[in-house]
Amino acid sequence: MDSLSLLVVSAFLLFPTASFQLSNGGVTSSFIRKSEPSVDIPFDADVFQPLPGYNAPQQVRIMQGDHEGKAVIVSWVTPSEPGPRVVFYGMAEEKIEEIQGSRVVGDHHDTEYFYQIRIGESSRQFSFKTPPAVGPDVPYTFDIIGDLGQTYNSNETLSHYLANQRGQAVLFVGDLSYADDHPNHDNRRWDTFGRIIERSIAYQPWITTAGNHEIDFAPEITSAQNSIIYVPAEKIFLNCGVPSGNMSSPDSLTWEATTAQAILPESKTTARIFETPYTYSFPVTPGRKFVRLHFYPTDYAFPNFNINFTISHSLLSVSVGSYISLDNFSALLNVQAINKHYFIKEFSVHISSK
Ligand SMILES: *[C@@H]1O[C@H](CO)[C@@H](O)[C@H](O)[C@H]1NC(C)=O
Ligand SMILES: *[C@@H]1O[C@H](CO)[C@@H](O)[C@H](O)[C@H]1NC(C)=O
Ligand SMILES: *[C@@H]1O[C@H](CO)[C@@H](O)[C@H](O)[C@H]1NC(C)=O
Ligand SMILES: *[C@@H]1O[C@H](CO)[C@@H](O)[C@H](O)[C@H]1NC(C)=O
Repeated sequence: MDSLSLLVVSAFLLFPTASFQLSNGGVTSSFIRKSEPSVDIPFDADVFQPLPGYNAPQQVRIMQGDHEGKAVIVSWVTPSEPGPRVVFYGMAEEKIEEIQGSRVVGDHHDTEYFYQIRIGESSRQFSFKTPPAVGPDVPYTFDIIGDLGQTYNSNETLSHYLANQRGQAVLFVGDLSYADDHPNHDNRRWDTFGRIIERSIAYQPWITTAGNHEIDFAPEITSAQNSIIYVPAEKIFLNCGVPSGNMSSPDSLTWEATTAQAILPESKTTARIFETPYTYSFPVTPGRKFVRLHFYPTDYAFPNFNINFTISHSLLSVSVGSYISLDNFSALLNVQAINKHYFIKEFSVHISSK
């Protein structure tokens, strides 16, 4: 049974049948969207849920990729880190192959192609149909949608459209997400819009114009108001050079003692002297982390303990995971340049799930 159906599929694919389909154009849908109440779907609703799995691709969409109608461009969003720009595609679900980049070029007009985006453990599959060959009197139907938004009524409109879809592409006449109706033009509403329309736009191109809700000129909104506040998943403070006992800093943070290799016996503050490369390991969740290093460079000379570190000779390298943050760095040159005794350096690193 399996091999029979496979044979039929590949015969069809090798010799695509000619299309005698007539245009369904010129029909106005009798569907009328409820105008009231126009309530935006909350962020935690089913239609906005990102996919399970770390960094799973979302907001998948296609657009026409050439003038002949054999190519589409596939775009998507990965929420946590950039992923590979690779699409797998083929003419049969069983024969999906890899191409580099996000432009899918088919060999046939009027033919269904399947495509997959695979990121980490997540794999998502969609399909599209290439348009007929360009020529006079070639039937090609567009559906027209406008003023969609992301209310409960928008969702109903979209469901109605998908259940009664006739066209091969959507002409979208403007006013997409209505993000500008939200406080500070909440840009997360573009992401939710991208998720709600995926069930159409991942399968057929939308050709959009800009409406008045896309004219998003609002200089009174600063980026700080519009951005999402970073909330660290974990906070780890190390008090270098102290063998035991925690310390509270004036900002009420608890600094954990690290086991010291060498403690400066006569210094007022504690420090840790590294004479060979040393690694600290912490268990952390995947995602963006900030690493802050505090510097107070000085001479450390304690003849009784045979310690004599000269500030001008102290060069430091720090790497975080696979990132090199400091390479042969002189804290002395830094304090001289900024004319202070003390400074901090902060690095942003991405920790992936592996
Ligand atoms: C949106 O429509 C889909 C399909 O009809 C339905 O499964 C879903 O529950 C709806 N969601 C909301 C929030 O209205
Ligand atoms: C230091 O604080 C950590 C939590 O930050 C705690 O687990 C540990 O027991 C504390 N150690 C001492 C010696 O108080
Ligand atoms: C430490 O070494 C420097 C040269 O590297 C020398 O000038 C200085 O006198 C030494 N200090 C002590 C206390 O031994
Ligand atoms: C660090 O700088 C010193 C002095 O310029 C040089 O001798 C040494 O090779 C450098 N080390 C590395 C790892 O680049």
